[in-house]
Amino acid sequence: MSMIAFLGSGNMATAFAEGLLAKNAAPQSDLRCFSASGKSAAVLAEKTGILQARSLVELLAGADTLVVAFKPQHLATADPALANLTEGKLVLSVLAGKKISSLRHVFPRARNIVRTMPNTPGQIGAGITGWCVTAPLSATDRATVETILGALGKAVEVAEPQMDAVTGVSGSGPAYVFEFAAALRDAGVAAGLAPETAQTLAVETLLGAARLLARKNIEPETLRNQVTSPNGTTFAGLQRMAARDFRGVIRETVLAAKARSEELSKDS
Ligand SMILES: NC(=O)c1ccc[n+]([C@@H]2O[C@H](COP(=O)([O-])OP(=O)(O)OC[C@H]3O[C@@H](n4cnc5c(N)ncnc54)[C@H](OP(=O)(O)O)[C@@H]3O)[C@@H](O)[C@H]2O)c1
Repeated sequence: MSMIAFLGSGNMATAFAEGLLAKNAAPQSDLRCFSASGKSAAVLAEKTGILQARSLVELLAGADTLVVAFKPQHLATADPALANLTEGKLVLSVLAGKKISSLRHVFPRARNIVRTMPNTPGQIGAGITGWCVTAPLSATDRATVETILGALGKAVEVAEPQMDAVTGVSGSGPAYVFEFAAALRDAGVAAGLAPETAQTLAVETLLGAARLLARKNIEPETLRNQVTSPNGTTFAGLQRMAARDFRGVIRETVLAAKARSEELSKDS
């Protein structure tokens, strides 16, 4: 694959660079990074052995793809030189809520712009990223996008208007799962377990159930039914979840996150 430049060198850029190197999807010599103060870029370069560019010109010279990985608010003050420096290049943005039309103002001559919404398990290669384009993507660029996003885990393409729903489900989703883990742990303590024991049981149950679900690749309801004997213990528990409309709570949770995402990206 050809050279990939990271604009911004924080958590996300680090996850991409480490993932690409770990999967041997790119050699160190094909990656370079840059950050505003140079601090995080120095840390990333030191950690991974990739080049720290000292200027945007150096960052983009010879690069085929630019991964934009600073904070969404940095877009408004991005260096105007980026317009020419990204001419003919593929731009992949991870900026939450920034629409392709706004990215186009900063990168007007890019050959294509890809908007993505990764999630935090991407840090360990177990992420799921929703992504979109609004202009046709060449087969080569699609392969590049798949390789870059593959560094974080899995990826699914959606239409741009669905990015707020993606944010509500998988972008914010890890936090719902962490909250569920905490609730299961606290419930274990309420049921009489020591906190550490309850935490271990909760975490391993989540992990094991998620792995089983992924391995079997069937509807979650099917696996749920397999552990639910009529009038048994699980049945008793599930009845309480239904009585308190657990699914309704999750639906409201996702719709609230989606609505907030729409609000935040309204003019951007
Ligand atoms: N973390 C996630 O799971 C996740 C999920 C979805 C989307 N995102 C998106 O990922 C993006 C990055 O998040 P993060 O957690 O990686 O942030 P972060 O760790 O705070 O890193 C931000 C980086 O941006 C650099 N920077 C700031 N202003 C810049 C400028 N004008 N030009 C170049 N670099 C600049 C900073 O450099 P210095 O500090 O060295 O100056 C730093 O390297 C955000 O836009 C967020 O919406 C993150």
